[in-house]
Amino acid sequence: MKTIHLGLIGFGTIGTGVVSLIQENRDLIENRLGARLNLKKIADLDITSPRKVSVSKDMLTTDAREIINDPEISVVIELIGGYEPARTFILDAMRNRKHVVTANKALLATYGNEIFKASEELGVDIGFEASVGGTIPIIKSLKESLVANRLRSIFGIINGTSNYILTKMSDEGKSFDDVLREAQELGFAEADPTFDIEGIDTAHKLAITLSLAYGKRVKLEDVYREGIAGISQQDIEFAGELGYRIKLLAIAIQRDEFVEARIHPTMIPLDHLLANVNGNFNAFHIVGDASGSVFLYGQGAGMMPTASAVLSDIIDISRNILKGVSGRVPARSQSENVIHEIMLLPMDYIVTNYYFRFSAIDRPGVLSKISGVLGENNISIAAVIQKGRRQAGPVPIVMTTHKSKEMDVQRAIKVIDQLNIILGKTIVIRIEDEKL
Ligand code: HSE
Repeated sequence: MKTIHLGLIGFGTIGTGVVSLIQENRDLIENRLGARLNLKKIADLDITSPRKVSVSKDMLTTDAREIINDPEISVVIELIGGYEPARTFILDAMRNRKHVVTANKALLATYGNEIFKASEELGVDIGFEASVGGTIPIIKSLKESLVANRLRSIFGIINGTSNYILTKMSDEGKSFDDVLREAQELGFAEADPTFDIEGIDTAHKLAITLSLAYGKRVKLEDVYREGIAGISQQDIEFAGELGYRIKLLAIAIQRDEFVEARIHPTMIPLDHLLANVNGNFNAFHIVGDASGSVFLYGQGAGMMPTASAVLSDIIDISRNILKGVSGRVPARSQSENVIHEIMLLPMDYIVTNYYFRFSAIDRPGVLSKISGVLGENNISIAAVIQKGRRQAGPVPIVMTTHKSKEMDVQRAIKVIDQLNIILGKTIVIRIEDEKL
């Protein structure tokens, strides 16, 4: 039986999961692959802390070069994360004609053009299933299973931390700050949760997804992004009354030659599958012109779910090695030579439904002033809720709209927020109930 030698750079949580899965499912993998996987070396700056798996001391090194320059190793698994030295390690491994598997979404979203081009030019494969949606086979689905489809839309919940926070806020009535603190105490959210709650992690994953779905390069900074820090319990409750749940959605919609790419808290109907993706789970709702709706659901993070995705790449690449081929499935679904810049629809031109929560003085004529400004800006009101009369301070006035243009909404809200009957910044949340 042939042996394929692997080198692992990064012996953290996911690296440990990869070692464990190779050990635990060794026979099954050998049977399915028809070859043996030998994890020859593991590099990490820390090779002394105890791990949840046991490996021979001889396998461990603090020098990643021992892997990159080992002529016997044909697949390098990069699981250190971050930009450098991960980028250099990957490019050098490729120059040494090694195939690469990585889970590094930030790196691929930022330096993907360079890395994917290098892989094509050097004739080596790169697997990155674990970079988006953890265990969910989204990359393979886009590159292979749905390859014949024009993708009309992709709606994803692709950040487990944000989804966990929004779920707890909805189910337990807690505030954003309280749930975030709890999540950090449980070791669930990062000590610095900025990437998760501000939608940066989601943007990395959406940029990778877009480039596969539309065969185009995406500039990360062009993807519109809003995080969840501004979501309050009050908006979650109003959403429920209106028949919606708030989720941080990654949205891609084909609009003729343009693609909408946006990330923001979104109200979605309570009975939609995505509204019922809870806790740290991730999901994608994809609509293809031939396939119709496809729904993918699973754990977006975690040691073994992510290791499962990493192993799927290792086995795919090993199968290619055994057949003596590479580049059979291009990294971004089509040759890098034909990939060009994606045309993203500027945010001003998106059309959707909106939820507004105004903080207004409770006195006659307030509603008509607000609706007057909305009318002047082509915004048609679908529903109004006003409750609770207080002695002092603002009252919430909630309105939902029919389809409106973002540009009109932003203009109207700017005017409304300057009215003397308005006592606080208006909350705007987009509603997606038709395109789903
Ligand atoms: N920080 C990510 C999340 C985990 O919360 O989903 C893996 O991408």
